Amino acid sequence: MSKKITYGMVGGSIDSMIGEAHRNAILSDGRAKLVSGCFSRDYKKTLKTGKKWGIKKDRLYENYLEMAEEESKKKNKIDFVVIATPNASHYEIAKTFLEKGINVVCDKPLTTTVKEAEELKQLADDNDLLLCVTYSYVGYPVISLARHKIEKGELGEIRFVNVQYIQGWLAKKIEDENKQAQWRLDPNQSGFANTTADIGSHVENMVSYLIGKEIDSLCARLDTFVESRKLDDNSTVMINFKDKSKGLLYMSQIAIGENNNFNISVYGSEATLKWSFKQANKLTILHEDHEEETIQNEDEIPGTNIGFKNTYTAFITDLINKKNGEILTNDNAHFQSVNAGLRGMRFIEKCVESSKNGGIWVKF
Ligand SMILES: NC(=O)c1ccc[n+]([C@@H]2O[C@H](COP(=O)([O-])OP(=O)(O)OC[C@H]3O[C@@H](n4cnc5c(N)ncnc54)[C@H](O)[C@@H]3O)[C@@H](O)[C@H]2O)c1
Repeated sequence: MSKKITYGMVGGSIDSMIGEAHRNAILSDGRAKLVSGCFSRDYKKTLKTGKKWGIKKDRLYENYLEMAEEESKKKNKIDFVVIATPNASHYEIAKTFLEKGINVVCDKPLTTTVKEAEELKQLADDNDLLLCVTYSYVGYPVISLARHKIEKGELGEIRFVNVQYIQGWLAKKIEDENKQAQWRLDPNQSGFANTTADIGSHVENMVSYLIGKEIDSLCARLDTFVESRKLDDNSTVMINFKDKSKGLLYMSQIAIGENNNFNISVYGSEATLKWSFKQANKLTILHEDHEEETIQNEDEIPGTNIGFKNTYTAFITDLINKKNGEILTNDNAHFQSVNAGLRGMRFIEKCVESSKNGGIWVKF
């Protein structure tokens, strides 16, 4: 087997929500090895995470600035860095590594403003570096199949997209005790929006990926149901696409009893397509005569989040091909690149603008 490429990670210590999902996804792809990290602001946690993953102590760092500086000087410097910290730090960390010539994989949302995302795109493109955003839901094989069917016109003309992404974990004021809730609801660590950014970014990306249409305008209402919060915990967005098709997106984190319930229905002039995260390897197509067609992907690897794994498989494949001389950029990449991250930031900013102005329609 050929030599593995290497990566490092900022954030995502073993007590984080998403760090292990990234590492396990890369491990199941099998072509990249974790060799470096600054997994936390707390060095003890970095050491603990590094020990679990067998990283040498001299490549475990007190802070990301030192990590970027030291790694960039090495002959065997990391091929890419994964950023899994709270949203507001993504921009500075990504910028630092891009400036040091290191490819970046960043969790969503890419930044906290459109301006920052534009700067990262410019920097990545100018330095000929890849910048991937881990919109992991589009990594499910049935989602690529759904996109293909829509593109081929199997649903007829797309008329309406109805998406619900609902969770209940923020239905009560838990932010004083729960660190993941605490930073998400703090504008200094999260940005201008909570729910619209945290899960709305996934929704926008999924809709764009699936139906491949550009948004023309949107109308949003961001609600805050739990008192004293500064950011939204529930969000409803209507969309007009550039053709005649339309969409309704509902994102909530106060939907009590719901556990990551992500459902999509795409209504075409000839058929309806449905997907739910609860059965993420299944696609249902409904026909006019109530005939129901089911497509089930059987290639599931038990215990693996196949969406996350395939997100990394697409990125690592492009990175290896680029190292081998293929011309690959963020514009022709096979993964969700900085372009998708930038579009996601525009979506969040436009939703906030619409809602702040009483739910007016705003051009995208
Ligand atoms: N793709 C997905 O499906 C998905 C799911 C959950 C979270 N996320 C995203 O992942 C990111 C992290 O979310 P989380 O819920 O895991 O948060 P978390 O609070 O559980 O973990 C954040 C981690 O970052 C570390 N950290 C914070 N600042 C740091 C710094 N300056 N240097 C080094 N480490 C630092 C913390 O110690 C912690 O380990 C967020 O951007 C979130 O939106 C994505």
